[in-house]
Amino acid sequence: MKYLHSITDLSNEAIIETIQRAIKIKNGGYDQLPDVFVSNLFFENSTRTKCSFEVAERELGMHVIPFETSTSSVSKGESLYDTCKTMESIGCDVLVIRHPERDYYKQLEGLNIPIINGGDGSGQHPTQCLLDLMTIYEEYGKFEGLKVVICGDILNSRVARSNFEALTRLGAHVQFVAPEIWQDHTIDAEYVDIDDVINDIDVCMLLRVQHERHDSKSHFTKETYHNGYGLTIERYNQLKETAIVLHPAPVNRGVEIDDSLVEAPKSRIFKQMSNGVYTRMSILAQVIENNRK
Ligand code: CP
Repeated sequence: MKYLHSITDLSNEAIIETIQRAIKIKNGGYDQLPDVFVSNLFFENSTRTKCSFEVAERELGMHVIPFETSTSSVSKGESLYDTCKTMESIGCDVLVIRHPERDYYKQLEGLNIPIINGGDGSGQHPTQCLLDLMTIYEEYGKFEGLKVVICGDILNSRVARSNFEALTRLGAHVQFVAPEIWQDHTIDAEYVDIDDVINDIDVCMLLRVQHERHDSKSHFTKETYHNGYGLTIERYNQLKETAIVLHPAPVNRGVEIDDSLVEAPKSRIFKQMSNGVYTRMSILAQVIENNRK
């Protein structure tokens, strides 16, 4: 891996290698990268991705150059390209970027340092996808034949797009659950009723209802969404003993998932966040090593 813009950049072998390296790192197996400068440029809000990248970078001994859009020259109108070229010029070796524009990284092809995509609008979220895959792999040790349901605001979800592509390529059977207004028929997935599949799936991946990407008209009350598409206590009780529940978070408690289930035995929601640090260490180490060759 020399950079990471989209999960499409990675072969199946590279995905498995990234997961296995993350698991090795989780068990203490990693070296320091002390001479590396990195900056995290987040043009959209984030808690998990930004903070776990920063933990990953510090664990690897990297120098983290602080960057906040509100106090940077972006507020004077500096372009994304000029901002990134500046970071390259002052000595950054790698940039982690989240930006609201889909495919923003295509305008950065003139840079000589690698970009790791922390999310591009409703496009891709490859590091979230890889930490989700790590969490599934730790549970089952494989992807082939797993039954996965991705449920919620598919249309606006970069997580759904990345995970559908990767899981399907790795041999899982992936179905979508979504209200008609949030279905995306550019993705070649089957839509099902959650109540028809809930007792037969291995992974129940819930998506956040992305209010910030909707027009102002509210389509659902909390209760109608939760009853139609959410993980209610009744649905949780129908899951197989071995099934797991994922959610990229932040969670709208009582909407995508009943409040009492966020830390229930089948939930891996906080484990996903811990795995995010190891996955991002794995990605950073590979990108740095492969750009030094
Ligand atoms: N899952 C995720 O990307 O969370 P943040 O928006 O908090 O980074």
